[in-house]
Amino acid sequence: MVHVLVTGGVGFIGSHTVLALLEEGHSVVIVDDLSNSFPRVFEHMKKLAGDKKDKMKFEQADVGDKEALDRIFAAEKPEAVIHFAGSKAVGESIELPLKYYRNNMVASIVLLEVMQKHNCKLLVFSSSATVYGIPERVPLTEDCPLSAINPYGRTKLFQEDMFRWGWDVAVADKDVRILLLRYFNPVGAHPSGEIGEHPVGIPNNLMPYVMQARHSPSGCSTRGRSTGGFGLRASAAASWAAVALGQREFLRVFGSDYDTPDGTAIRDYISVMDLAAGHVAALNKIINTPGFGCQAVNLGTGKGTTVLEMVASFEKASGAKVPYKLVDRRPGDAGAVWAGTDLAEEMLGWKATRNLDDMCASLWKWATQYPQGYETPEPAAAK
Ligand code: WQD
Repeated sequence: MVHVLVTGGVGFIGSHTVLALLEEGHSVVIVDDLSNSFPRVFEHMKKLAGDKKDKMKFEQADVGDKEALDRIFAAEKPEAVIHFAGSKAVGESIELPLKYYRNNMVASIVLLEVMQKHNCKLLVFSSSATVYGIPERVPLTEDCPLSAINPYGRTKLFQEDMFRWGWDVAVADKDVRILLLRYFNPVGAHPSGEIGEHPVGIPNNLMPYVMQARHSPSGCSTRGRSTGGFGLRASAAASWAAVALGQREFLRVFGSDYDTPDGTAIRDYISVMDLAAGHVAALNKIINTPGFGCQAVNLGTGKGTTVLEMVASFEKASGAKVPYKLVDRRPGDAGAVWAGTDLAEEMLGWKATRNLDDMCASLWKWATQYPQGYETPEPAAAK
C-alpha cells in the first residue's frame, strides 16, 4: 500500500475518494485550500473513516503555492498523487477565464515541478468528458476527437496534454505513470448521507439545482426556509435571496426538442461512489504496472438518461415534487452524451455498479440529514 497525496481531497469527489483509498489500505495526506469546501468536511470524513481515521491528514494549502507544496512533499514523501484541486464551473469559467487558467493550469505546472523534484512518479488526474466538446458520435470512446467549447474545458484539455507531453520525464523516464480520468456526470452522495456535494452559489449542474427546486411531499416549497435548499456561504447570500424571492420557483429544463425519447438532453450520470472506486482501481493499476506511460480513460456508466428521467428518479427516491418548466436549450449543450466503458473495464478492471435509484436515494439522504449541506447547524448535543 502507498502514501497518497490527494489535492482537493475535501471536495465532492475528493472526499469520497479519500475514504475509498483508506478502505483499500492506503494512507492519505490531503492538500486543499478550502476555496470551494469547508473544514467541517474533514470532520465528517473522520467519522466515516472509523479506525482508519489516523491514516489520513489534512494540510490547508493552495496547490499553486510552490513553497508550501514543496514543504508538504518533503515532510510526507508521497509515492503517488491524485489531483482533484481546481475550478470546475463551466458558467463561471466563461466569466472568469483567467481564474481558471491560473487555478487549473498554473497549479498543475507547480504540482509537476514539485513531484519531479521529489521523485514522485505516479499521478491520477481528474479530467472530464468536457474534453470531447460537442460529440460527433456516442458512446464517446477515448479515441474520439477532443476539443474545448469553454475555458473550463480548455483547461482540462491543456492539462491532459501537459501531463501527457509536458512532463518530459514521462517520455524519458519509463517509471513515470499517469492516468487521466474523464468523468461524465457525477451525482449522488455517500450512502451514510454524511458527505455529499455542497454547491456554493447558484448551481450550474442539474442535480444540485433539482435539490433546490424540490417541494416537500406536502407540496409546499422547502426552499428559502432556514433549513431549505443547500447552505450558501455569506458571499452567496444574493443567490439565496433569489431563492427566497422565488426566482428559482422551478427547475428550468434546458431544451425539449432534442432527438431523444422525451426530447430532453441525455447525459451519463455516474455515482460519486463509483467514481471513488474508479480512482482506487486507477491508482492500483499504475502502482502495479511498470512502464505504464500515460493513458486517458472514461469513468461513466455507459448508460444515457434524459433530464426528465433524472427528475422522475429523484421524485421517486424523495417523494418530493420537482416543479419544472421546459425552456430553450442552454448554449453549448450537446443533445446526447454517454461513455464508452470498455477501456475502463479492460484496463482497470472497473465498472460502475450503482443505478439511478442508488444515486437519488443517497442524494436525498444527504439532503435530509444536512439540508444546508456543511453549513447545517450542528445538533446541540454534538457541540
Ligand atoms: C446536465 C443536463 C443540461 C441544469 C458539466 C460539465 C462537465 C462536468 C459536469 C465537471 C444538461 C440539463 C442542467 C439545469 C437543466 N463538470 N440542465 N437544467 O453540462 O452535462 O456537464 O457538468 O467536470 O465537465 O461540462 O452537466 O449538470 O450542467 O447538465 O436542464 O438547471 O441537465 O442542459 O442537459 P453538463 P449539467
